Amino acid sequence: MTRSFESIKQREQSLMMQTYGRYPLAVSRAEGCSLFDLDGNEYLDLLSGIAVCSLGHSRPELAEVMAEQARKMVHVSNLFYQNEQLDLAEKLLDTCAADRVFLCNSGAEANEGAIKLARRYMRKVRHTEAFEVVTLEKSFHGRTLSTLTATGQEGPIKDGFDPLPPGFITVPFADMGALKSAISDKTAAVMIEMVQGEGGVRPLPEEYVEELKKLRDERGFLIIVDEVQTGLCRTGQFWAHQHYDLVPDIFTSAKALANGLPMGAVLATEEIAKGFAPGSHATTFGGGAVLSAVAAKVVDIMNEDRLADRAAELELWFKDQAAALAERHPEKVTGARGKGLLLGIELTFDGKDVWKALLDRRIVCNLTQGTILRLVPPLTIGKEQLARFFIELEDILTKA
Ligand SMILES: Cc1ncc(COP(=O)(O)O)c(C=O)c1O
Repeated sequence: MTRSFESIKQREQSLMMQTYGRYPLAVSRAEGCSLFDLDGNEYLDLLSGIAVCSLGHSRPELAEVMAEQARKMVHVSNLFYQNEQLDLAEKLLDTCAADRVFLCNSGAEANEGAIKLARRYMRKVRHTEAFEVVTLEKSFHGRTLSTLTATGQEGPIKDGFDPLPPGFITVPFADMGALKSAISDKTAAVMIEMVQGEGGVRPLPEEYVEELKKLRDERGFLIIVDEVQTGLCRTGQFWAHQHYDLVPDIFTSAKALANGLPMGAVLATEEIAKGFAPGSHATTFGGGAVLSAVAAKVVDIMNEDRLADRAAELELWFKDQAAALAERHPEKVTGARGKGLLLGIELTFDGKDVWKALLDRRIVCNLTQGTILRLVPPLTIGKEQLARFFIELEDILTKA
């Protein structure tokens, strides 16, 4: 077996398609808020697998559910009724105003399903020709051909994949004038993230969302909210749209849904769900018994442990710390942004060296848009662990 970091790196380079710019760290074990490298060194994980392991790594209760369900039934296909799926659907629908769920395997697949549902609803239920989906600049919606076209970013995400599917328009972030001019009779949906994650941890302003709701009433398009990253207590509400008094026509979930097992969901109101009929959408693995049982347990733990409230409390503390840091280093730190435990510290300069220095000190976070240190830690993280991040960051900034 390959042991040293260099040999793992070489092995990866010779075996895997080269799609990832990986961090210089090989992880052999993960527990709670910690990652362990090949030599057993412990790293503080402020990324949780990119907002996935919200309950922390290797949670014993989830391992038990997984093992028990795996001995009973793993996969029989969506040809059959399965209580595990229905239990999960019930629990998910209890958290929001949606009425129906479609279970799938990833964020991109959930968004693809949401786009298909919006289009088919317009055609088959409303009998209109509306098909266009309007998205915002710097959004991120996934890597399938449709979701990468919906994604409001240029560069390697889109480069070389032409022709991209028609029917998508991107408008500037939080610019109501631009949105209004993009809306036409062809608009099926406006698709938003309440807080852009990959796009630099940017919450949508409340006034914008209020205007968007009015515009929906006037023009009849649907609002799709991509909650792949923001959902499941991450931002201090069970779903980020609940900060805004918004009932989306369709919203999507994935990432934290099964705390690391691949699972996504499309949720919609009763009316919009009429857009799908038997045969119009499907997926082989979606809602498999093990995935569903684990996800149901995730939702239970999130509710019992009031993790949304915890995220909201830690946000306030984090922002106070960040404001104090910005006051002490005004030339280097602008401040914090984000909601709940989807947080960013904005630097005034390219943050690559700071990010690397944190990693060298065994703190894992990531850098988006060049200047934002992004933190999406497990929602179970303690204040003292976040405090360690601030101590190390300040030391790095002082020496920089
Ligand atoms: C907001 C958002 N939507 C969609 C996706 C795509 O999810 P997946 O990688 O599971 O396909 C991501 C992934 O980072 C995301 O952050």
